[in-house]
Amino acid sequence: MELNEEQVIITMPRIGDPAPSFSAVTTQGNINFPSDYHGSWSILFSHPADFTPVCTSEFMTFASLETKFTAVNCKLIGLSIDGLYSHIAWLRTIKEKIEYKGMKDVEITFPLIEDITMNVARKYGMIQPNEDSTKAVRAVFFVDPKGVIRAMIYYPLSLGRNFDELYRVIVALQTSDAFDVATPADWQPGDDVIIGPAGSCGTAKNRMEDADIECQDWFFCTKKLSKELVLDTILNKE
Ligand code: BEZ
Repeated sequence: MELNEEQVIITMPRIGDPAPSFSAVTTQGNINFPSDYHGSWSILFSHPADFTPVCTSEFMTFASLETKFTAVNCKLIGLSIDGLYSHIAWLRTIKEKIEYKGMKDVEITFPLIEDITMNVARKYGMIQPNEDSTKAVRAVFFVDPKGVIRAMIYYPLSLGRNFDELYRVIVALQTSDAFDVATPADWQPGDDVIIGPAGSCGTAKNRMEDADIECQDWFFCTKKLSKELVLDTILNKE
């Protein structure tokens, strides 16, 4: 059955869901997501349109940080509701003409998905019609090596993303997985980490008595985790 425009289903994935799968044409060839990315973290992000200034500043920033993301086993994939030739022309223009905050001659080597049909954008809730019905918002999905959505952030069209925060999210998620801890407000590697809430009176008591754990109260306990150990654990060692 063919759906009319009002009936088109827009889904919003949730944290903990398997990343919705799709095949797509990109500026780096065809991809199957998330299966091609199994074993790596990935950031799938959308932008409103090619040849727009905020998006251009974001792509240049992401490209300049790509080696940092690669070092923590994280791959980048962009998307907008534009065609492949528009993407290619825009990326060529960025490399040839645009200078921003000292970045110039910037080559975008991560894939940029063409999504003129909005197939992927609809699956990922990237179209938010009260913001714009034909442009994707600035969505960011953090997908783990098993293809599970672990975090997501949405920004409106007018607001460029903070790329230090996107990197911090990847590092914090990997740290939580590796050390079975949580990360408090504004956490950065080297800061104390949080021990999850005690599930029994016995655990609460043991924690209060553990010399390696500092408890403000039984429910708020932290421990040291050195920056070196965090970085040694999450940085790729080839
Ligand atoms: C931009 O990337 O500059 C932009 C795109 C859509 C709406 C507003 C700004």
